[in-house]
Parts: sequence; C-alpha cells; structure tokens
Amino acid sequence: MDDLDNNHCYDSWRWKPSDYNSLTEEQHLPFFVRAGMLAASVHNSQPWRVELLSQKEFILTADPEYSVVEGDPSKMGLKISLGCFLMNVEVAAEYFNYQMTYKIDDQSILVSICKKNADLSLAGEDGFFSDLCLSITDRRSNKFAYRTGLGIDRALQEIQAASSLFTGIEFHYSSEQQTIEDVSVLHQRAIRNIRSPFWRELFTWSPLLRETSCVGIPPDVFGISDRVFRVMRYFFSKFPSIVPVVMSAKDKKLIRHKTPLIGVISSSSIMGIEDGINVGRFYEFASLYAAKYNFAMTPIHAMVEDKQMNHEVSSLFGISSGFRSQMIFRFGYPVKASSHTPRMSFDDILI
Ligand SMILES: Cc1cc2nc3c(=O)[nH]c(=O)nc-3n(C[C@H](O)[C@H](O)[C@H](O)COP(=O)(O)O)c2cc1C
Repeated sequence: MDDLDNNHCYDSWRWKPSDYNSLTEEQHLPFFVRAGMLAASVHNSQPWRVELLSQKEFILTADPEYSVVEGDPSKMGLKISLGCFLMNVEVAAEYFNYQMTYKIDDQSILVSICKKNADLSLAGEDGFFSDLCLSITDRRSNKFAYRTGLGIDRALQEIQAASSLFTGIEFHYSSEQQTIEDVSVLHQRAIRNIRSPFWRELFTWSPLLRETSCVGIPPDVFGISDRVFRVMRYFFSKFPSIVPVVMSAKDKKLIRHKTPLIGVISSSSIMGIEDGINVGRFYEFASLYAAKYNFAMTPIHAMVEDKQMNHEVSSLFGISSGFRSQMIFRFGYPVKASSHTPRMSFDDILI
C-alpha cells in the first residue's frame, strides 16, 4: 500500500477502529454507507448511488452508466454488487447495535436502520455479523495462488451453516481434486468463448496504478506491472484472439494447481433483484469471514455467464433444479498478499 499513500482513490480504506469508535450518532449512517463502499463489485464498477433521506434512512440505486455491459450481460452482477454493499452496511450497523432492514421498490432499495433494544442485542442470531466489522478493511479479492492448510473445511462448514440466514440461496463447495480439475477445464473453455468486446471493456475499465481513476481493476491486482499491461493492451489491439488463449491457460493452471477449494452460490434461475441481493449479501459475508480468519477468496465468474458451462457447473456441484449458479469462487490460504482496489469518494456516490 505504501506507494499508493498519495493516491486519493485509496483514502476510503484508511480507517482505524479508533476513528470510528468516537463517532457521534449523526455520523453513524454515513459511516455505514462508507462501509458499503468497500464491498466487492463486478469489475470494481462501484455502481452504488446513495440518497441520504435522514439519519436513519437512505435509498440505494445502481447507476446504469457504471454497469459493465460486456462483462455482465445478464445484469445479475449489478444486482449482486448491490447485495455486497448491503452486507457491509448491515455488518457495520450491527457493530453499533443497529438492525438494518431494506425494502425493494422496483430498482431502488430503501435502507433503514433502527437501534436494537439491549435485550435483543444479546439474543443468539442478533449481532451474528457484528464481529465481522473489523474485517471490512482487510477484505479484498486476492487473484493470486492459494494453498491448502488446516481449518479450510471447517471454515467452509461454518460458511455453509450461515447460508441458511440468507433467503433463497444454496451454497455448495468441493475440495475434491477431480472437481477442481473439471472446473479448471470449464473455466478455460468459458474464457476462450468470451468475445473481443469483453476484453476491450476490461482494458478500458482498468486504470494504471498511478492513474487516478477510482473505478476498475488496476493491473497490479492481477500481478501485472503497468509496463507489461501497456504491452498487453498494444498486443490486444493488434492480435485480439491471443488474449483469451494466454489468459485461459494461465487461469487453468491457477485453478488446477493453486486452488484448494471451490465454492458455488446458487439462487433461483429467475434472477430477480431479490435473488441478486441475497447472493451478493452471502458472498460478501463469506469474504468478510474469510478475511477475519486470514483466508483468501475471489470469484471466477466467466462460467456463470456462459449458459452451457453454467449447466455443467450445476451438475458438477449437484445444484437443485430451478436454481442456477450465480457466483463461483476460489478459496484457500493466500500465498502472496494482494493490494486493495481503488474507491470513489463518498461525495461521488451521493445523489
Ligand atoms: C458479481 C461479481 C463478479 C466478479 N467476477 C470476478 C471474476 O470473474 N474474476 C475476478 O478476478 N474477480 C471477480 N470479481 C471481484 C471483483 O473484481 C472485485 O470485487 C473488485 O475488483 C473490487 O475489488 P475488491 O473485491 O478487492 O475490493 C467479481 C465480483 C463480483 C461482485
């Protein structure tokens, strides 16, 4: 992070518990929104827009200008990103002993918080998420190699047990070598099937490390220097068909040899906004849990958007009929630390 200290796009990550333990009551809701802004989003598009209504309510919408056209043709990634945002808000609210609720009205979401009474906050399920608050700034999508180690299966069992708290989703996972190899082959095929406009869009969304665009995924997050990225961009403009071949071979190896476990979140194949939100909430919960216990995870999404591969994932993981896989992710202990991605400022997302 040192070399990014002067880049304002990384300011949002610089929280310390001492900063937020002294918040006044009227600073609570803006703080929860800031927590939401540190969530995962498809291509780091941060499509979230917030209208603050009062100290207890805000409206969350998705900005269509920040939807990723080629990378998220079904728009399910956009809905999932809204869910990721909501989970971070919920976790931060619980930390301060609030209960968050939301109501979906067409494409906008009315989010409310209310203080829990003292008795409720002591009861079992209430407060379940609050101890993840300190992990919000540690969470990131680590796109490098993972290794296995003690406690991985146990962690996944706990994540699976928590899945019952999220309406309308199923969660499956596997650490069997054969399944992981099968997924690596499916992923390779899915990446090879992706058309050039997707890659063009990805290159356009990715800021160079020292640029001050606060959206998109900087190349260093993929382990690529700015210089190599520029060469890749040039090659892509001349020989677009090479990129998927190189990327798919690299990813196949990463999944096959450097991924101890794969998880799949599925929900109704109708893919409504409610489904997307619950998938996103659960994904974000799992990644905060992973961050808390020093695991790493990151999605491998290409198979989800490809209809044929999606069916094949369903049969590999035994996904129920009427359900469709919405997120597939790698899980393990990180071999190498990964950087954060940039974030817009609080004022940028207010409407
Ligand atoms: C719906 C969705 C799909 C994603 N798909 C991928 C993917 O296919 N490959 C990948 O490396 N990261 C994927 N990501 C992770 C994003 O790249 C990541 O959340 C974003 O860059 C922000 O970085 P952060 O999670 O480290 O904060 C996905 C995230 C979401 C919410």
